[in-house]
Amino acid sequence: MSLHSDDPVDQNLAELDTVVPTPEEERTEPVNILIREMNIDDIAPVFHLGEALFTSDLYPSLYRIWDEWEVIGFYNTDPEYCLVAEADTQVAGFVLGTIISKAPWVYGYINWLGVHPDYQRRGVADKLVDKLIERMIEEGARFMLVDTDPANTAAVKFFTRKGFGNPRRHVFFSLNLTKHEIYGRLIAYERDRSERLTYRRPRRR
Ligand SMILES: CC(C)(COP(=O)(O)OP(=O)(O)OC[C@H]1O[C@@H](n2cnc3c(N)ncnc32)[C@H](O)[C@@H]1OP(=O)(O)O)[C@@H](O)C(=O)NCCC(=O)NCCS
Repeated sequence: MSLHSDDPVDQNLAELDTVVPTPEEERTEPVNILIREMNIDDIAPVFHLGEALFTSDLYPSLYRIWDEWEVIGFYNTDPEYCLVAEADTQVAGFVLGTIISKAPWVYGYINWLGVHPDYQRRGVADKLVDKLIERMIEEGARFMLVDTDPANTAAVKFFTRKGFGNPRRHVFFSLNLTKHEIYGRLIAYERDRSERLTYRRPRRR
């Protein structure tokens, strides 16, 4: 890991190994978990669980991406890599992944992973990721990829413990188009145009 010691985010990454878990972070009793493929009835529970987990503090820039289409999209394109953990007939966690084939390598990508707070630190994510990787290996994957915010201690610790390494920093830019000098005017123009079109639309009798 080539990290600059004066950067607070890098320090967070570098110091993770020395973090002493708070009582609520400590591992609780394992639970009976069934890992199975997601089905159509799981779409809403998975979406709502993700809504509760992928919050702005964990994903300052990416949380906006999570919506029902994210779940539906993966279910549509990669159903074999959409797994849920079922506990007490409830969805306790999920993983959504995809395979990227770029010759000569096949990569497995973990796009979304989430575990209900009541079931965290009980090995649920562990089981979900193991099952996903097993499936991806069958499909030819020889590399796994995942990204998360460096401040997401639980995820960073989790993936490090699973053997993921070689973390690279990724700079995420954003631009508020409405506040941009040129794009802002374009937005205002488009808004006026659509208002004009609505105004002109003939009424139905
Ligand atoms: C990250 C997350 C998926 C882990 O799920 P989990 O089921 O609690 O993880 P596991 O019980 O399998 O944990 C395995 C190991 O990961 C590490 N870990 C997990 N949660 C941790 C936490 N809150 N603090 C420190 N280490 C943690 C530990 O090393 C743990 O082993 P241990 O309990 O024996 O110490 C869960 O915290 C979560 O859903 N977070 C919010 C969503 C998110 O950040 N997703 C990941 C990015 S897509």
